[in-house]
Amino acid sequence: MQPTAAGAIGVFDSGYGGLTVLSAIKTLMPQYDYLYLGDNARAPYGSRSFDSVYRFTLEAVEWFFSRGCHLVILACNTASAKALRTIQQRDLPVIDPGRRVLGVIRPTTERVAELTRSGHVGVLGTEGTIQSRSYEIEISKQHPQLTVTGEACPMWVPLVENREHDKPGADYFVRQHLKQLKAKDPLIDTIILGCTHYPLLLDKIRHHLPAGTRVLSQGSYVAESLEDYLSRHPEMDAKCTKGGTVRYYTTDAPDKFNQLASLFLQEEIDARQIKLEKL
Ligand code: DGL
Repeated sequence: MQPTAAGAIGVFDSGYGGLTVLSAIKTLMPQYDYLYLGDNARAPYGSRSFDSVYRFTLEAVEWFFSRGCHLVILACNTASAKALRTIQQRDLPVIDPGRRVLGVIRPTTERVAELTRSGHVGVLGTEGTIQSRSYEIEISKQHPQLTVTGEACPMWVPLVENREHDKPGADYFVRQHLKQLKAKDPLIDTIILGCTHYPLLLDKIRHHLPAGTRVLSQGSYVAESLEDYLSRHPEMDAKCTKGGTVRYYTTDAPDKFNQLASLFLQEEIDARQIKLEKL
């Protein structure tokens, strides 16, 4: 596949949420160039089938490759849960074995054992992420001694996207899901926020949890893991350009994207619209 020259690092999400991950990545590694793509026209992915999430994500990955990216981060938990493994194992060897696609689940699960004392971990995510059991499967491979319990929180993404996440109404939904999670396993002392949007609910989540419960927001873990990956793979690092730029793309209206992006990123952006289906 052409082109083979070095390119930006691709960061993909179903919409805005991956900006929380991009923000952490570019804070730690401002020297690289990044392309961010939000598939807003087809978001949310959280309640979509495996097949749809896989097809949409593969289209996005191919778009990044056509833009010269050699390394793509799926900053979306739902895409990481439902599409990453198939893309890595089935598609990449055919498309171009030299390119890489990484997700957000593993960088988070790698760190969880050092944080929990009770050995009981909770995962909050979209319906798709929780149904896929990806966090449980990944944690059981790395830390079989841990007990993992998931809870889907389908109302939390719309709360954030409708700017209700810091309003009193959000407390009801936050309390409801934390209560349900704790009812399933009262010994949980560490909770993974397995969705890009949930860091925006962090204050309320902390408020409704007993003191001492740890809450893992994944942005910094993904950023540290990427830095570690690039230091261990100099051949990939050489294929990532270092001009310190970020370009934003969306599959829906750029004006709306620019406005809502300010919730997730503390800066003004100027996104461009692209189409994925016609590639
Ligand atoms: N980005 C998605 C995730 O992290 C949340 C939004 C959606 O459902 O598309 O799972």
